[in-house]
Amino acid sequence: MNIVITGASRGLGAALARHWAAPGVDLALIARDAEALQQTAAACQAKGASTRLATLDVRDAQAMAAQLLAWDAARPFDLVVANAGVTAGTRPDGSFEGPEAAARVIAVNLQGALNLVEPLLPRLTARRSGRVVLIASVAAFRGLPDSPAYCASKAGLWAYGESLRPLLALRGVGLTNVAPGFFASAMSDRFIARQPMKMSAEAAAARIAAAVARGAGRCIMPRRLGWLLRGLELLPAPLADRAVRLFRFHVAD
Ligand SMILES: NC(=O)c1ccc[n+]([C@@H]2O[C@H](COP(=O)([O-])OP(=O)(O)OC[C@H]3O[C@@H](n4cnc5c(N)ncnc54)[C@H](OP(=O)(O)O)[C@@H]3O)[C@@H](O)[C@H]2O)c1
Repeated sequence: MNIVITGASRGLGAALARHWAAPGVDLALIARDAEALQQTAAACQAKGASTRLATLDVRDAQAMAAQLLAWDAARPFDLVVANAGVTAGTRPDGSFEGPEAAARVIAVNLQGALNLVEPLLPRLTARRSGRVVLIASVAAFRGLPDSPAYCASKAGLWAYGESLRPLLALRGVGLTNVAPGFFASAMSDRFIARQPMKMSAEAAAARIAAAVARGAGRCIMPRRLGWLLRGLELLPAPLADRAVRLFRFHVAD
């Protein structure tokens, strides 16, 4: 099995790589931090997997396409995992995330995911095989008050996946849209907030891998948190807004 994962230098991406690592599995890993990427690769190799590494910024569409198409020509991908992500949000002093941080979040989380998936779609559909996995967030379901750009990026990614899945199914390709709640990582370490139902990155990776293995179209975890946030959308706006303030948080600098 040949797998490509963005954001594999740490957190969920690294946990997914380690989870899938086994003899006969090739892991193509992308992130900007070469040293950390090498550490993930070493852990995967120790479990018998082979690895291919690229130190790339997912925002660089041209470099991404060139690398992905070369990799896919050599060893065609079975799983394409868009995981790289960044966050921003209201700062501890209450100031807004600001235009630069907001643009960066959209560029990495949404455009960066498209820069992975779009170049490979013609290859996957021509082979009528493979699966796309999109790591969105439960923040896709209901905008949270302190991270509007992050929520917008994840809502966009979720909508992209929901839109693409029925089309890809007609062409023999699967898609799993993933909406995790909180899990432990460098990203969640920066949240100054309650983090209900938090799990480890390893537990999140295992749940995602199980959903991928059974060909699930969606993986929402924890399910209760997902339904709670989805349910808020059915309430009148003033009530939903009051409820969602329970999820107020700041992002450390
Ligand atoms: N942690 C949570 O509670 C939580 C909850 C829901 C959803 N998520 C989502 O899950 C995914 C993984 O998050 P995480 O918590 O594991 O975050 P993390 O520990 O901060 O890791 C983020 C990964 O994305 C990579 N990345 C960031 N910007 C990049 C860029 N421009 N180009 C290439 N790679 C880039 C980072 O690598 P480099 O810095 O080396 O480039 C790193 O490997 C994200 O999409 C996040 O939004 C997280």
